[in-house]
Amino acid sequence: MIERGRAWWAAAGILLGLGLGAASEGGTDTPFSAVERLEVGSARRLSLDRDWRFSRGEAPGAERPEFADAGWRLLDVPHDWAIEGPFDRQFGPHRGALPFHGVAWYRKHFDLPEAARGRFFSVEFDGAMAHARVWLNGHELGGRPYGYIGFSFDLTAHLRFGEETNVLAVRLAPKDQSSRWYPGAGLYRHVWLDVTGPVHVARWGTFVTTPRVTDAEAAVTVRTAVRNRGKEEAAVIVETVLVDEDDDAVARDESPLRVPAGGEATVDPRLVVAHPERWDVDRPYRYRAATTVRRGRQVLDRFITPFGIRTVEIGRDTGFVLNGRRIPLRGVCLHHDLGALGTAVSARAIERQLEILKAMGANAIRSSHNPPAPELLGAADRLGFVVIDEAFDEWRKTKVENGHGTFFDEWAETDLRDMIRRDRNHPSVVLWSIGNEILEQSDPDGWKLARRLTAICHEEDPTRLVTAGLNQLDNAIRNGLAREVDVVGFNYQPRRYAEVLAAHPDWILLGAETASTVSSRGVYHLPVEHYKKHPSRQITSYDVVAAPWAYPPDVEWDALDHNPSILGEFVWTGFDYLGEPTPFFMWNEPEDDADWPSRSSYFGIVDLAGFPKDRYFLYRSRWTSDPMVHLLPHWSWEGREGQEVPVFAYTNADEVELFLNGRSLGRKKKGRDLVTIPAGDRTDADRTFDTPYRLAWDVPYAPGALVAVAFTGGAEVARTELRTAGKPARLVLRPDRTRLPTDGDGLSFVTVRVEDEAGNLCPEADDLVRFEVSGAGRIAAVDNGDPTSLEPFQADRRKAFHGLALLVVRADRAGRGPIRVVATAPGLVPGQVTLEVTAR
Ligand code: GAL
Repeated sequence: MIERGRAWWAAAGILLGLGLGAASEGGTDTPFSAVERLEVGSARRLSLDRDWRFSRGEAPGAERPEFADAGWRLLDVPHDWAIEGPFDRQFGPHRGALPFHGVAWYRKHFDLPEAARGRFFSVEFDGAMAHARVWLNGHELGGRPYGYIGFSFDLTAHLRFGEETNVLAVRLAPKDQSSRWYPGAGLYRHVWLDVTGPVHVARWGTFVTTPRVTDAEAAVTVRTAVRNRGKEEAAVIVETVLVDEDDDAVARDESPLRVPAGGEATVDPRLVVAHPERWDVDRPYRYRAATTVRRGRQVLDRFITPFGIRTVEIGRDTGFVLNGRRIPLRGVCLHHDLGALGTAVSARAIERQLEILKAMGANAIRSSHNPPAPELLGAADRLGFVVIDEAFDEWRKTKVENGHGTFFDEWAETDLRDMIRRDRNHPSVVLWSIGNEILEQSDPDGWKLARRLTAICHEEDPTRLVTAGLNQLDNAIRNGLAREVDVVGFNYQPRRYAEVLAAHPDWILLGAETASTVSSRGVYHLPVEHYKKHPSRQITSYDVVAAPWAYPPDVEWDALDHNPSILGEFVWTGFDYLGEPTPFFMWNEPEDDADWPSRSSYFGIVDLAGFPKDRYFLYRSRWTSDPMVHLLPHWSWEGREGQEVPVFAYTNADEVELFLNGRSLGRKKKGRDLVTIPAGDRTDADRTFDTPYRLAWDVPYAPGALVAVAFTGGAEVARTELRTAGKPARLVLRPDRTRLPTDGDGLSFVTVRVEDEAGNLCPEADDLVRFEVSGAGRIAAVDNGDPTSLEPFQADRRKAFHGLALLVVRADRAGRGPIRVVATAPGLVPGQVTLEVTAR
């Protein structure tokens, strides 16, 4: 029988005032930490993540409570059943070649004490992939087709208390041909139980706005909807306290409110914060609005809403202005998978992605092409990114047979409203996107839907503008659709910025999706290929290859530099993602057998394992000012002695001088010494172009040290060195964190390097590395960033790919103490590291 979560209720009792005893009675486990509490918005929410029974395939009768599921697998959510694989071409390389479609069931048993009778309960799914249907104790509660939107059901009427167990049953049925990328499958986001008394803050009941912000003071309104599920009118006080990051109350309001029986009522207090700290990408300061609903001295509900005080102005002449300062949007598009962890949400894995992007100089994210996990917005709020929050990849007209368009008429409005209500308090969110490359761009009346969806966004949130990513620009201009959004998002049209700006003097333009350059980390084919399908199914990292409709980063920068009113760029993509392995298995082209295996994207600036490709440094050279210089390729070309190897330098300095074994190969100046990028067969880049954003030398190869020295104003500001590597000698482990929490999300991403005796990375090493993880943790996943690998992600071994592999270790929930990690490979000195699991 399933462990009934005593600890869960013990802790819950504290929150619910049920008098069930102290949290410590239940042991070490608490339903959530203080940090999560801040993110999720309400202390009345309890995690329902643990101990679900899971089974693939149809299970007739599984909605009924008495159904025998003891033989089913016991697991915690978030869970993505498809990431376990195996990879198989039949599942479609466009979607990651993973088994994500079919039916599966999840069942959760839970008990409620007698003392909880009379309270109100609802279940909140942050997202379920897909076509969810939900039952409680055999009663069907409803369903939700869209896998990316959160949904909730009231449980109260069908709950059992005391001795009898409750069973929540979820049937999911993600369909084949339902996505253009890997969608994942399962209860892949968190599940919550919301427990209240009859009078409480409604679902998404707070909406914080800052109508006036100056250095001296900020006006903050906290519109709060209170729901009354009781049979009598409730006369309550709604107390709102604004709390700063030091936990000091900085403003307070008390508003009396009468809430009709079975109804809702709203207060709209206006508070004033003196000398407000701004939320900014450089310093993302967050306040909390703490709402307490009281009747006399009795507390009926408490609700926390994190928010930020910032001003955003977006204008044709002003660009994107945050807190009075113009900032170019240096953005990336992100799909939702987390590489080897699949789509199963991990706050830490998301945070790691954002940390890596932040260090590159990125300040913006587009959640392409769907509502993101709440944790992404939480991390963006915390780390300082602005976000385009996107609803759809298609409207009525589908791009894939079973896409969102098949239920657009029934659900789109609800999905869109829900996304905005859920997300509108996040300071990171600065634009709503109603769609990406929607096919209605080419319909004569496509503008009508655009108008309708834009109006919904404005209705739900009058404080933010609306955009869409357009690729059929002429059609969308001709049919009037482009006019219906506030900010016209261009996908891959930098060469048309000037013309469209001139023709539409009042339009605000944004590079909503840019570049789509492709590369494999660590791969350099010589001679350099220019958009050829290399037989290795890897793509050179000289950053010259792009999809046929796309172009290298330089083309976008040239266009932005010539059209400064454009708000900025959103690179496709920040990280590689599962599926869409363009140029292999291209959409709308017959499948080429020679493309297999190839199952994940090459678009990422960072590979699937989280290792930066060379492009990372190209963007850094544009997006940051701390002096840096980066060299490529590697310098281990045995057998090419005397032959020329092209060497690129990426720098934000003025000049770079290159030295081979101490001998100068000349100093080159950025902007003067241009680098020629041939057109190749990119159809958009119909011409060869000379880029001022890189420096290059042709260097006759000789082993040794290649050194780049960067100068600004004549003085050395940075340098980097590449050394010819000797034979692989040892494995070196570099964890991103050595102290891990026990909240189930305690991950350490351990980089495995194959090094020679002198500590150089061996750039061609592909040794098979085996892992032993013992103590208070276990292996969560392995990867190496190779888009053609069919090795499983859940395994205790991984081949290195160009010298690197990744091990993801997860701390046990109940764990304490050390986790020992040992990595071995034949003929190499093993790598070792010890991680420490600690309570928060
Ligand atoms: C865009 C599309 C993206 C992705 C990208 C690849 O047209 O919006 O979802 O497919 O192309 O270059």
